[in-house]
Amino acid sequence: MSKNIVVAIDGYSSCGKSTLAKALAKKLHFIYVDSGAMYRAVTLFFIRNNISLNDSAAIEQALKDIHLNFHSRDYQTHITLNDEEVSEEIRQMHVSELVSEVSAIKAVRKEMVRQQQRMGKSKNIVMDGRDIGTTVFPFAEVKIFMTADPKIRAERRFKELKSKGEEISLEDIFDNLAHRDFLDTTRKESPLTRAKDAIVLDNTTLNEKQQLEFALERILPFIQ
Ligand code: DC
Repeated sequence: MSKNIVVAIDGYSSCGKSTLAKALAKKLHFIYVDSGAMYRAVTLFFIRNNISLNDSAAIEQALKDIHLNFHSRDYQTHITLNDEEVSEEIRQMHVSELVSEVSAIKAVRKEMVRQQQRMGKSKNIVMDGRDIGTTVFPFAEVKIFMTADPKIRAERRFKELKSKGEEISLEDIFDNLAHRDFLDTTRKESPLTRAKDAIVLDNTTLNEKQQLEFALERILPFIQ
């Protein structure tokens, strides 16, 4: 009989976490949750409503007014913010530029973690983010910590945004990733760090198929 498990994937910005998580969810018939999309949607709400990041009362109220939902179609993330599909807009640079500041706010993290833990109750879930193996699911059966050369990461993200028609330079993307890595690893509230029991996956020279095989080899013993 197969066991119900949680797979937690953490790592730096743009190192292929969601690509791996989606492929795993598809293969294992698990639910996939992109926790970064939740922080991005909150950031979009803050931008649209001019919420000051220093105004804790406005932030508390905003968190009550924000309703996020995931709809899975072909294992692609479709997230709605108060019933509006925002999956494309949350990937744009105006959101990327502010999301690490927003996700460093304690009240924001507390609410997102609460929602993420609720989604993981029935297990058989793959969730990717920055604090999944350390804070959201410290007892996850499998934890993977992803990393890759920063230059390669910037090039991959550059190609992805270009293909969507976004006008952006490789240099700006590199700087944004470095900035987010810095904020994500140095913030006070659950910074990005490798859980002691996480397996490191450096995909600098691995393709999607190879990284999937690497992860499956570690996961299958838990569910067979
Ligand atoms: O995975 P991503 O690049 O879409 O995440 C966007 C930002 O959200 C990232 O810079 C840090 C934050 N984040 C977080 O703090 N905790 C998570 N579990 C997921 C994302």
